[in-house]
Amino acid sequence: MLRRFKPYFTYLRPVARILAGAILCGLVYGAATGLGLPLMQHYIFPRVFDPSFPPLPGWQILAVAMWLPIVFTLRGLAGYLNSYLIQIAGVRILEAIRLDYFRKLQVLPLAFLQRQTTGDIISRGLADTNQLQTTLTTLANDGMKQPATLLFAVASIVYVTARQEGVGLMLASLAIIPMCVFPIRYVGKRVVKRAYQMQTQMGSVTNSLSENLGAAKEVRAFGLEERQAAAFAGETSALIRVQIKVAKYAQALTPAIEILSAFGMAIVFVYAYRGHVKFEDFLTIITAVYISYDPIKKLGAINNELKRGEAALNRIEVVFNEPVTIRDPENPAKVGRVRGDVAFEGVTFAYKSEEPVLTGVSASIPSGTVCALVGPSGAGKTTFANLVPRFYDVDRGRVTIDGIDVRQMRLCDLRRNIALVSQDPVLFNDTVHNNLLLGRLDATPQEVVRAAQNAHADEFIRAFPQGYDTIVGERGARLSGGQKQRLAVARAFLRNAPILILDEATSALDSQSEQMIQDALRKLVVGKTVLIIAHRFSTIRDASLILVFDKGSIVAAGDHAQLYSGNRLYQTLYDRQRTETA
Ligand SMILES: Nc1ncnc2c1ncn2[C@@H]1O[C@H](COP(=O)(O)OP(=O)(O)OP(=O)(O)O)[C@@H](O)[C@H]1O
Ligand SMILES: [Mg+2]
Repeated sequence: MLRRFKPYFTYLRPVARILAGAILCGLVYGAATGLGLPLMQHYIFPRVFDPSFPPLPGWQILAVAMWLPIVFTLRGLAGYLNSYLIQIAGVRILEAIRLDYFRKLQVLPLAFLQRQTTGDIISRGLADTNQLQTTLTTLANDGMKQPATLLFAVASIVYVTARQEGVGLMLASLAIIPMCVFPIRYVGKRVVKRAYQMQTQMGSVTNSLSENLGAAKEVRAFGLEERQAAAFAGETSALIRVQIKVAKYAQALTPAIEILSAFGMAIVFVYAYRGHVKFEDFLTIITAVYISYDPIKKLGAINNELKRGEAALNRIEVVFNEPVTIRDPENPAKVGRVRGDVAFEGVTFAYKSEEPVLTGVSASIPSGTVCALVGPSGAGKTTFANLVPRFYDVDRGRVTIDGIDVRQMRLCDLRRNIALVSQDPVLFNDTVHNNLLLGRLDATPQEVVRAAQNAHADEFIRAFPQGYDTIVGERGARLSGGQKQRLAVARAFLRNAPILILDEATSALDSQSEQMIQDALRKLVVGKTVLIIAHRFSTIRDASLILVFDKGSIVAAGDHAQLYSGNRLYQTLYDRQRTETA
């Protein structure tokens, strides 16, 4: 069972000293409980109550009376320190796991993230790590105190009963301990399955919530409020059903062990009576037996908690164990600022292994070319562009920059050479200035303003009461579509990378905003290798190279004049585009 957690023991190293202190305190607690209380009855009580002992002088009575408070003070202090130290270790470990989880999310292939739901990833990072913390702290609280208590209580029983006639009494007193294993195992098995279901369902609930918030506008526009609420209620009630099942089994454990232990006491009683055990010895044994059942009960609960932790761990490991397939090569090529010759050589790529989205695609885009990618929806244009910064890796063939396979470059070297303006640019909930700075983190404020001016963004930014310090809202929610796009263009100006990938917005902006963006882009593309997924006929016409995509292949390449006269598909696409956007 604990082997399951073994790979994570490395997390213990930084908190090793805290844990050592905690273990020591746990031992002291166990000794105080398991030995201190039963032995008091064995040694002290007879001296006080048995008339055959000589009467005690006053100071000794005081010493006897102090036994109990001393034992309890020791027990209390050690117990407190044990719990406190382990809690500290627990939250530290959790923090480390959470950070590693987040770091892993940063480098995982996009394809993996697209297979998961956001809510589930969030739930794994918060709810499951939380469960893991609960497991760790429960383990912490009781994982040392209870076994130590049990050990010392058993020692008390053995010590007192060993001097009675026969081993029967000893065996009877200890018999119940192994028997308690059965209910613990029975319950544990059932809990682990339900716990996994519970955590998974927690992911569905989180996802229902996050998806709903992401679609706030659609919900209102389509009048889906009731439908969404009903769907959410469905998810939560499914969660509650498994939660109840977990409770049903987990809560059965304590009474089961208590009932078993009551039978145990009865057997001890019979044996003690038949063996003519002295009252104080009997009391000692019963106290020790009683004290040893409590840890068993708690160990059972720990077992349940471990099972839940295991379930949470299984879910977290889906992320931890996912291979990072897109990563730096062993011997990376030396790459500075590239010239920007981009080439595709017989590239085949599929999102899902059986259905290739690009088949045998070859293209050469020399440095300084503005290359437009055109073609019907779903033809593979975005996919093609995504292969250059290695958002995905090709299945066959290769993508090169200046003749070097992109897989031979370190990711940071490769991506430093690329600026990306996506269709629907994402901004962070931060100031305008900081959002622009993402283009190049070491840019000076002057450079930021310069980039904004180039992108025709400076004007509207200055019109905000807080100017460049305006907070843009989540994903840039407080800005208009055109403003967001201009910030994205400004970011690309700042990056000043030799390769530029533009996914032209499909949504039409008002003509003034549109013109400003077009004007900014014209300045931006100068001297760069540009891949532009073009939707506007003006962009297409001005491109020096046009690649026509259809069903995952490049069916024609050339400039506008060549293609318009020589390619039927291009002709229809272009004519349709012109009537739409003109
Ligand atoms: N993340 C993904 N996972 C699985 N399949 C995908 C994914 N992204 C795109 N596809 C599929 O790959 C094909 C090509 O998509 P792609 O986005 O490259 O088309 P496109 O030419 O950019 O189309 P559009 O002009 O509509 O943007 C489509 O059939 C699409 O369904
Ligand atoms: Mg696309």
